[in-house]
Amino acid sequence: MTGRAEGLSCTGRRAGYVVAVFPLGQVARHGERFARPPGCGINQENQSRGFMGNLHVTMTDIDGVKHEFPDVEEGVSLMELGRSRGVAGIMGDCGGGCACATCHVYVAADWWNEVGEPDDVEFAMLDMVADVMKDTSRLGCQIKMNGNLDGLEVTVAPASGY
Ligand code: FES
Repeated sequence: MTGRAEGLSCTGRRAGYVVAVFPLGQVARHGERFARPPGCGINQENQSRGFMGNLHVTMTDIDGVKHEFPDVEEGVSLMELGRSRGVAGIMGDCGGGCACATCHVYVAADWWNEVGEPDDVEFAMLDMVADVMKDTSRLGCQIKMNGNLDGLEVTVAPASGY
């Protein structure tokens, strides 16, 4: 079956395929391809492991090790990326809920304008780790990759002493 899967919910994605659950619990057979249902985000952990995109991210971990990721998919957050690839210092304890700051990163100065400032909620969370906060601090879970961020460079912030 191909084409648009109207009214279905998406529960996961692997290798470009969306697994759709039918109203009566029937699951699409392996390999059947569906367009992503409207409103079906890709920021859930189980949907971000098999990156197939071509966006590039450079992430330096808390030990100073630089990681190059040339295959990041649009919509993946920096927290999801760092955590799934084992980048030291990216914890993501709250799962992306903007409530823990264990995904704190410093955005490279050249990228600050493109990434943009945190909103008030994110800034309040960053204020909880003010001892390690910088002018270019952001929460990795709040930065979702898109074409404008291709080539983005960030450094994982050290843990707060608070
Ligand atoms: S994962 Fe908790 S604030 Fe980002």
